[in-house]
Parts: sequence; C-alpha cells; structure tokens
Amino acid sequence: MTERRVSIEINGTTYDREIEPRLLLSDFIRHEAGLTGTHVGCEHGVCGACTVQMDGEPVRSCLMLAVQAEGHSLRTVEDLAAEDGTLHPLQQAFHEEHALQCGFCTPGFLMSLEPLLADARDFDDTQVREALAGNLCRCTGYQNIVTATQLAARRMAGAEDAA
Ligand code: FES
Ligand code: FES
Repeated sequence: MTERRVSIEINGTTYDREIEPRLLLSDFIRHEAGLTGTHVGCEHGVCGACTVQMDGEPVRSCLMLAVQAEGHSLRTVEDLAAEDGTLHPLQQAFHEEHALQCGFCTPGFLMSLEPLLADARDFDDTQVREALAGNLCRCTGYQNIVTATQLAARRMAGAEDAA
C-alpha cells in the first residue's frame, strides 16, 4: 500500500512520519510517537482505554485513522503531569482514593474526565457516572473512580485544599 506522509501534533510535539493510510491513530500514538501511556484494549470502540483528547475533546484513538488527526492537536496521558513530575489533580485524586488497581483502564478514564473538570464544581454521583459511561474498568467497581473525580473537581474549583 502506498505510504503517506503525515504531520501529527501530540502534546506539543510534531511527529512527521511516512505511514500506511490504514494505520490506526492508537497505533500511531504508541508505535510511531512512542507514547505507550495510551492503552489499547478492545480495539473497536467499546472499552475506552485508548481515549485521548483531540482539540480538547475525548476521542477513541482506536476508532480513528492516524491520517484523520492531521491538522488537529492531540493530547495523551503523558501530558497531564507537570514537567517536574507533579501529578495533575485528577491523577493525585485517583492515587489518594485508590481509583485504580491494575491501571490498564486508567489513562482512558483520565483523558475522558479531565476536560470536564475545568468547568465542574460539584459533580454529583450521576453526572460522574454518565461522564464515564464509555469507559470500562474490570477491577475497581467504579465507586473509587467516582469519589476521586469528585475530589479533583472540588480541588480544581478551589473548594478544597489541594494538600
Ligand atoms: S481500545 Fe479503543 S475503545 Fe477499546
Ligand atoms: S484498574 Fe484494572 S481495568 Fe481498571
């Protein structure tokens, strides 16, 4: 198959590559950009593990071709923590509230939830669960994920000390 040159921006870095037009965005992120924090589970849009942000909105990278990401700005889980390693408030809350076990699903949860937190003050239980409807976790039973999300929302709204 004829390869095509693409130029895709991820986390502020532009990756210029020759790729097959059928290459999935999830495979581009992991194998071409080397950003393996994005996980691939079902590879057909069901589990949400592969969620990244495109122009600030969560998308399933296994349902997109890499060529479709040209001209857009992508963000992966590697971009959440600060350069000095300080965790994003959502990551910190997941850590404190034991919102992960094996961690396979976690990058997808974080990238689905993070855009919502900017405007959120009080996320009630139902709102969080609706926001998470497209992400599957086989370990946690979800309650700690909901609790962590609510904690992060309160902290980001300045309603609770981040310490
Ligand atoms: S790997 Fe993309 S939704 Fe499951
Ligand atoms: S923590 Fe294991 S799948 Fe979610």
